[in-house]
Amino acid sequence: MTAQLIDGNALSRQLRADVSARVTALKAKGITPGLAVVLVGDNPASQVYVRNKVKACEDTGMHSVLERWPATLSEAELLARVDALNHDKTIHGILVQLPLPAHIDAQKVIEAISPAKDVDGFHIASAGALMTGMPGFWPCTPYGCMKMLESIGYELKGKHAVVIGRSNIVGKPMALMLLQQNATVTICHSATKDLKALTLQADVIVAAVGKRNVLTVDMVKPGAVVLDVGMNRNDEGKLCGDVDFDGVKEIAGWITPVPGGVGPMTITMLMVNTLESAERLVS
Ligand code: GUN
Repeated sequence: MTAQLIDGNALSRQLRADVSARVTALKAKGITPGLAVVLVGDNPASQVYVRNKVKACEDTGMHSVLERWPATLSEAELLARVDALNHDKTIHGILVQLPLPAHIDAQKVIEAISPAKDVDGFHIASAGALMTGMPGFWPCTPYGCMKMLESIGYELKGKHAVVIGRSNIVGKPMALMLLQQNATVTICHSATKDLKALTLQADVIVAAVGKRNVLTVDMVKPGAVVLDVGMNRNDEGKLCGDVDFDGVKEIAGWITPVPGGVGPMTITMLMVNTLESAERLVS
């Protein structure tokens, strides 16, 4: 193995310790940061995610509320809950877990969240703020990727970054964050003609497709930094990313593992966003 690992668990521990200290300082001023997590239905993966989010709040000293609603909840009822949380002074961040049942328009629900409490960074006001370089919440997964690059002291200016995937949650915001740090950014997607020709030019590759082996060793320039956002299962049912880790680790300069890479960073940045939402009340 030539690549060095970027350990998302270790970096998360460091960042969460800082969050805990800032939570304590804020509590001394009479404010306890609070996160509301709203889960509709009983999607098994979502249940695990929301449990982990609530636990992270407990671990960092934040207040949290978990609202669980049956899959039969109407869109109007969910919008009414979001409105109530928008006005709840004990809540600084609102997260409606996705996916929502098919009869609910997820975008409409996201737009109902006050941008001041949009700690997921999914509201169009948050997306617009990121695009224009204005203050606002950044989506947690690409934000976590940026923290990982920062943790290894990586200078993005003038580097070529290739993002594979163009989702609103990861690919597009990731590209904007890299651009803000003066990287030259290429976004690749399912209609990209010659993915390998592009990734071979990349100093940084972010794989965010949701499919195994999207990036293999023959597609990576020696020494490149490889961030793997994927969360898939292999044939044996083991968790794996979008990157062929065993192959790519022999050529990359830095690589994130799955599990233990980008995954824990997503929840950590949710804690950071919720804390910063509360801190804005006193600054
Ligand atoms: N479902 C999967 N990931 C996420 C996330 O980061 N936020 C929300 N709200 N739902 C998700």
